Amino acid sequence: MTVKEIFETMDYGPAPESAAEALAWLVDQGDRFGHFIDGAFTTPGDGFDSKNPATGETLATLSQATQDDVDAAVAAARKAQPKWAKLGGHGRAKHLYAIARLLQKHSRLFAVLETLDNGKPIRESRDIDIPLVQRHFYHHAGMAQLMEEELQGREALGVCGQVIPWNFPLLMLAWKVAPALAMGNTVVLKPAEYTSLTALCFADLCRKAGLPKGVVNIVTGDGAVGEMITTHEDIDKVAFTGSTAVGRHIRRATAGQGKGLTLELGGKSPYIVFDDADIDSAIEGLVDAIWFNQGQVCCAGSRLLVQEGIAEQFHAKLKARMDKLRVGNPMDKCIDMGALADPVQLATVTKMVDACEGGEIYRADGGIPANGCFYPPTLISGLSPADPLMQEEIFGPVLVTSTFRTPAEVVDLANNTRYGLAATLWTENVNLALDIAPKLVAGVVWINGTNMFDAAAGFGGVRESGFGREGGWEGLGAYTKPARKTKALKKVEPFTGSEIAPAGVDRTGKLYIGGKQARPDSGYSRDVWSKAGKHLGEVPIANRKDIRNAVEAARGAKGWGKTTGHLRAQILYYIAENLSARADEFARRINDLTGGKEGAKEVEASVQRLFTYAAWADKYDGAAKGVPIRGVALSMKEPVGVIGALCADEAPLLGLVSAMAPAIAMGNRVVLTASEAFPLAALDFYQILETSDVPGGVVNIVTGSHEELADTLAKHMDVDALWSFSSSDVSALIERESAGNLKRTWVNNGQSRDWMGAEGQGKEFLEAATEVKTIWVPYGE
Ligand code: NAI
Repeated sequence: MTVKEIFETMDYGPAPESAAEALAWLVDQGDRFGHFIDGAFTTPGDGFDSKNPATGETLATLSQATQDDVDAAVAAARKAQPKWAKLGGHGRAKHLYAIARLLQKHSRLFAVLETLDNGKPIRESRDIDIPLVQRHFYHHAGMAQLMEEELQGREALGVCGQVIPWNFPLLMLAWKVAPALAMGNTVVLKPAEYTSLTALCFADLCRKAGLPKGVVNIVTGDGAVGEMITTHEDIDKVAFTGSTAVGRHIRRATAGQGKGLTLELGGKSPYIVFDDADIDSAIEGLVDAIWFNQGQVCCAGSRLLVQEGIAEQFHAKLKARMDKLRVGNPMDKCIDMGALADPVQLATVTKMVDACEGGEIYRADGGIPANGCFYPPTLISGLSPADPLMQEEIFGPVLVTSTFRTPAEVVDLANNTRYGLAATLWTENVNLALDIAPKLVAGVVWINGTNMFDAAAGFGGVRESGFGREGGWEGLGAYTKPARKTKALKKVEPFTGSEIAPAGVDRTGKLYIGGKQARPDSGYSRDVWSKAGKHLGEVPIANRKDIRNAVEAARGAKGWGKTTGHLRAQILYYIAENLSARADEFARRINDLTGGKEGAKEVEASVQRLFTYAAWADKYDGAAKGVPIRGVALSMKEPVGVIGALCADEAPLLGLVSAMAPAIAMGNRVVLTASEAFPLAALDFYQILETSDVPGGVVNIVTGSHEELADTLAKHMDVDALWSFSSSDVSALIERESAGNLKRTWVNNGQSRDWMGAEGQGKEFLEAATEVKTIWVPYGE
């Protein structure tokens, strides 16, 4: 094309990036890769080809890990871990800093390799993925440096098994590896089978950086290898990013193994445009929301919701913009959209869109290359909210759109999804933005911007988008554990007896549901005996129906989450005051139940605990994160929702208070299953609640078999989190059965806790009682 012709058409000319260095690196490695275990590459074994999805060319051959390979990688990580942790924060910080520097020095090699392997435009890998990778390592070098000072009482978990997807191959590695290493863990990581090359290049870089052997181990292969890692008995923590189906499978497969687990899964994130929005900016935002990385983004703004008054104009502008998007060779710096990651993904997206019934499909008319995994930018309108394309993650450059009339309606539409990863909203009205953001059920909300990420800002979802956060201080909880010794918890058996109850006025213990005493649906009760065999009373045996009623009551009390911390504090103090007034009676009751002499101490500890969480109710603050954009990322602590808890058997009152108080202080509603062996104190306690202004439904108390009730609570789709401090063996059951709605679980794995001491309260409880929502807000110059 001549200069004159260029001036006439004003078309972009091609600006190809050279692949020479990346290809040379592959040749240097012999084009065949083994695994990176204990600081060295293994001899390549049987494997599979890694292809460039834009051209179909084979880039290298990778090895499919065997069980022996995975065992060797885990053993290397295990051996290296104690020394790595003992290196101390500064020692590890220096290593992470060295990795960050090397990543910076070789940034173009990584960017090109990523684009060749994944198909994403070089503009994105060069300007977004790789800079964020570096930022993550720099940021976490700082976390390592500060760990001893800022995270006192926390220590490394051990060996982390990490399985990552193909949409941001090196970035997801960085999100997983940097915090793990910073906190003193070692890792065994499996990249996705389509995109392992940058992970292997990273392994090479770890070697160059002088990282101690065994600290980072990388094995390649498909989902079977992922399964070997996630279920490996010597892995302490699993971190997974990928599809919700596999995430759910991992939750079940690892149930009861005592592993930590974080899941970062799919989404169908709403992209809301109000009629007063800056429309051109919102359109550009949409390009970043759904056509960034070909829409293969877990938090892609894939569900457009436009306010009715501007819908026609907005869609017209959007289509015009779509027609201008350039789809083609990802190595061309002028390209907006590259290739999907693999023919399998192209087939999935094609099949989903082709199955569309009733919608109107608009495909950008800019054209796509005839060969390679390309799919045009696509817009689908006219679908009902329940249509599969409105509900399912398409994971391609396909946007679905609908309209709304009022802010209240858009909140309902936005939240009408089983996911809860991200949401975007555009408006020029700050009041509206700050009114809507808290109402969106999502882990991340972007205001007047989209798809912004930073190492300092937590990222992760709610509902079936998974649990756990990556990034920021909040991300470190998943890579550390409280530094304390644990003891096996023995099953606490109820006492038995035969002595007939003395004559007197019968006091019937009931369940406490929705602020009222309720008879059990089963119509059954059981006797409670003292150690000496004296009859103390009877307690109802709750069943599935009672749990359903309790959860419904808790759901109904959602206004509690909107009350102020100050009000919740007042109510917790009031509970403490009323309990204190009846301290002697409770102390006697506890002594009778347990056969011990610690009743008075337990009551005093319960009063103190109520004071502690009353104090925390308005002090467990969020933060404003200094992210490197013209804005701040607000880290807001929100209640989890409805929390079920199986209370400690050994401390009948304190165990119940220790679960209830942090949960309600943070704005949750609870369904508490009282100590199975010693339940009567809980039934006395609801009399305290009744006189302490606790709104009906905020606290519900049931008695019965922990095993049966754990099963019902775990399977209940309207329970958001389930905790177990029970001495019954229910941890595995809870983790397995909670996979349905991916509720957050916190189980004791048969380990005891000193309820009287410091480990019976504190930040661990507050963290479990809250979700971090990150709200990105424009701010400053
Ligand atoms: P996937 O969830 O199967 O793959 C992600 C990673 O998990 C890969 O490394 C894979 O090898 C591994 N894996 C697969 N099965 C496993 C198992 N049983 N145990 C342990 N690890 C296992 O995702 P896939 O099949 O590649 O893509 C399918 C769909 O998943 C996509 O169309 C998209 O909708 C969704 N997806 C979502 C992602 C996200 O970031 N939310 C990322 C990748 C895929």
